[in-house]
Amino acid sequence: MLFVWDDRYETGITAIDQDHKGLVNLINDLYEAMQDGSGGALLLPIFSALKHYTENHFTREESYMVECGVPDQANHVSEHRQMVAKLAELEKRHRHGEAAISLQTLTFLRDWLKNHICAVDLAMTAQVQNKNYRKDA
Ligand SMILES: [Fe+2]
Ligand SMILES: [Fe+2]
Repeated sequence: MLFVWDDRYETGITAIDQDHKGLVNLINDLYEAMQDGSGGALLLPIFSALKHYTENHFTREESYMVECGVPDQANHVSEHRQMVAKLAELEKRHRHGEAAISLQTLTFLRDWLKNHICAVDLAMTAQVQNKNYRKDA
């Protein structure tokens, strides 16, 4: 397992925590697909699923921020946009055979998600919860 879930990633907003756990599971699925001896045939479909799941998750967070009037949205949205562009580039390069989805790529995705949750998402969800706004209700 490449990415072990830790309680310190919990935001307390159920829908966001479920999304984050789904992302962690997909990164671990990619790691296993890389090692299962099938030549990586499953890597691209799982990677595409990760890309779509990530885009949906970012849309969810961004709609929370707008609805709750969270300050400093621009920096958060900018981090999301950069990751969406990165995932699209990685998918395209892999699809065209220019580059494999490597362990280095997966550790980059894991570390990005850990850092983004701890530094940016937790700050945002604390602001949402300060307004007693619970989307999961
Ligand atoms: Fe985020
Ligand atoms: Fe997030």
